[in-house]
Amino acid sequence: MTSKAKTTNKWKINSWRALPVKQQPNYPKAKEVKDVEAELSKKAPLVQPSEIIELNKQLAKVANGEAFLLQGGDCAESFAEFSDENLKKYFRVMLQMTVALMYGAGKPVVKVGRIAGQFAKPRSADLEEIDGVNLPSYRGDMVNGIEFTEEARIPDPKRLIQAYDQSIATLNYLRSLAKGGYASLRNVNKWNQEFASQSSQGKLFKNLVDRINESLSFMEALGLNLENINEIQEAEFFTSHEGLLLNYEQALTRFDEETEKYYNCSAHMLWIGDRTRSLDEAHIEFMRGIANPIGMKVGPSMQKDDLIRLIDALNPDNIPGRLTLITRMGADKIEKMLPPLVRAVKKEGRNVIWSSDPMHGNTIKSPNGYKTRPFNKILSEVKSVFDIHKAEGTYAGGIHIEMTGQNVTECVGGAQAISEVNLKDRYHTHCDPRLNATQSTELAFLLAEELRSE
Ligand code: PEP
Ligand code: CO
Repeated sequence: MTSKAKTTNKWKINSWRALPVKQQPNYPKAKEVKDVEAELSKKAPLVQPSEIIELNKQLAKVANGEAFLLQGGDCAESFAEFSDENLKKYFRVMLQMTVALMYGAGKPVVKVGRIAGQFAKPRSADLEEIDGVNLPSYRGDMVNGIEFTEEARIPDPKRLIQAYDQSIATLNYLRSLAKGGYASLRNVNKWNQEFASQSSQGKLFKNLVDRINESLSFMEALGLNLENINEIQEAEFFTSHEGLLLNYEQALTRFDEETEKYYNCSAHMLWIGDRTRSLDEAHIEFMRGIANPIGMKVGPSMQKDDLIRLIDALNPDNIPGRLTLITRMGADKIEKMLPPLVRAVKKEGRNVIWSSDPMHGNTIKSPNGYKTRPFNKILSEVKSVFDIHKAEGTYAGGIHIEMTGQNVTECVGGAQAISEVNLKDRYHTHCDPRLNATQSTELAFLLAEELRSE
């Protein structure tokens, strides 16, 4: 079944450097960049190969239809919004979504954050114009500052170190939440509090919590000691980001003697954006050589022949779970564009995870100038994705969303009925509009319904 892609040159950790590369910052001083790369390559890895191997195993289950992938977090993390409170709220929403999805799917949910490294953004335009003034676009806190001044917009390589440091602190805190008792299903009622009383999903969630508590009491009545069951006491949580700045990714990639493979230890999973996935260019070259699971965004410009070539470049041995295709066509295009791709991949016998990003194809500008996303379009794209996979006999294995645990007003609609006039109230994103805590949980419940009906 496996047919190898055309013979490719030998991969090296820096073989991407010889190829065309998109979306990299224009640093004024090359020497400073080299120094930062050298410094990063001596830093401690954020994650271990053993954890990456574990994620590979869990994603193989997703590919086989035995688990579901939940990938979510900020569009862009920022230095300004870093706080333990924001992280805790984010983590809580991920757990709530997980519980809802697990209940719906009757399957394990693999949790992967867009976090602890999601700082660099591809941009459609190199320049941003405001009132006739043109400055370099903001490319994420890892590259330059968001303020619209000449000084802030100059790319500064020291920001790579700052992003690394914040990623370390973020991951450390998330690990403590995941393993230190907070994520125990025993605490499921505590995650919820204000949310439960305020919204209709809160009530749905409360019903779910009651059922979980009943099941836990039943297990105890059977004589099981819940303290000893890791699955109940702890959550497993993985990290991911777009592998955009390849010098950063290279500096944190390490050779593992035991498995004789290279692992990018800046995150468990990396994905390739829709703007940087050209065959025979640097991003595909770098990603094909690392042993982490890889995601690839699949937007409206993807042609089926190119898709097969890209799959073969990234996953020549056709390993289930190695490659996640994250489709992001937009609610109005998905029905036309997804089925031919799904059919081609199925016909060629390529093993992939099909995940749906219902965010990036549904961005619009509201009349008052805010970038937003209508919640009903987001739901509509997800629903279409489920219907399409059902019709094609393939598995809708995951969801990829931009969300936050905070009560922001960035996407319009949902049960709170956020309208265009509300957008200005709490619009905090550093890049694209995110689902807030309530909208995220609402989405999870609707998805749970879909999964249950499968
Ligand atoms: C993103 O995920 O933030 C992003 C830029 O997506 P895409 O590459 O799909 O546009
Ligand atoms: Co985005």
